[in-house]
Amino acid sequence: MKRIGMLTSGGDCQALNAAMRGVVKGLSNNVDELEVYGFYDGYKGLIYGEYRLLTSTDFSGILTKGGTILGSSRQPFKLMRVPDENGLDKVEAMKQTYYKLNLDCLVILGGNGTQKTANLLREEGLNIIHLPKTIDNDIYGTDVTFGFQSAINIATDCIDCIHTTAASHNRVFIVEVMGHKVGWLTLYAGIAGGADIILLPEIPYDIDKVIEAIEKRTKAGKGFTILAVAEGAISKKDAKLSKKEYKKKMEKSPYPSVSYEVADTIKQRTGTEVRVTVPGHTQRGGSPTPYDRVLCSRLGAAAAEAILEEDYGCMIGIVKNETARIPLEKVAGKLKVVEPDCQIIREAKTIGISFGD
Ligand code: F6P
Repeated sequence: MKRIGMLTSGGDCQALNAAMRGVVKGLSNNVDELEVYGFYDGYKGLIYGEYRLLTSTDFSGILTKGGTILGSSRQPFKLMRVPDENGLDKVEAMKQTYYKLNLDCLVILGGNGTQKTANLLREEGLNIIHLPKTIDNDIYGTDVTFGFQSAINIATDCIDCIHTTAASHNRVFIVEVMGHKVGWLTLYAGIAGGADIILLPEIPYDIDKVIEAIEKRTKAGKGFTILAVAEGAISKKDAKLSKKEYKKKMEKSPYPSVSYEVADTIKQRTGTEVRVTVPGHTQRGGSPTPYDRVLCSRLGAAAAEAILEEDYGCMIGIVKNETARIPLEKVAGKLKVVEPDCQIIREAKTIGISFGD
């Protein structure tokens, strides 16, 4: 008999359902009896005891379904130790729910913040398995996160669509790609979509270099230029500011995001028309790609194996194409960023992509 709890926390992404299905299939095929409790809206469900006993029907037909059957919410890690408005100790409340249901383990699907709380619960003595979800691909210790490949497809489709209209007009186009503080999604979608310039948070840009790259294309007879700009991209000048100063600058900025600032500067300096497209949350939506479905089936199976062996306190990730159990204490709180001098950046530069540096 195994009794597990499951929750999905933070911003959603494709393949959350596929991952949960993988875990449940992996367990139900290998134990006589299985009880699965699904907590609603992330840690909120665990804190306030909002859950439901799930049955095999819940996991039927969800391999291809985007979103999460459990719902999700953001519960910031830094507030976990702060009592709620009614004075409730959230960590104690989560532990009580866990013990009340007599769980063998809690399977937590989420990104970086979620992982920090997962590690906190491990430190508090709960049996935890974490599955790395996020379109941002910024979870340290795993080569890839689920949601990332599906989001690359959507962001690439967007750049592809911009390409056809760009070819009809002499304009500069900017596609702003999600990714929070890292540039993985922009880098991959940018290369896949044939962007000419890619701006990432990890490689602060010099607007003069960006304009130089656009003018070089114009001189070469190219009518248009496409920029893939990460939502977290930052100029060399702004990168020198302290976090606080930068936050203040952005709050006062007349632009909704960095892409609009880049667009306006290019327009003023070159006289060229610039258009900005923001695919936004579409990047987290829709069905998972076949790659993510396979990835989540593998991660789910590997999580089930760890649970069967009662090997807890880890993230189930991918290391060199193999599923791996990575101790939470080694990875929680760390961020996987794009190294400015890594191979893929060097290769992108070799084929003429400018990073504005
Ligand atoms: O972490 C996933 C992500 O989509 C980021 O790429 C983005 O910065 C953020 O979530 C958006 O968060 P929200 O859905 O809360 O607006």
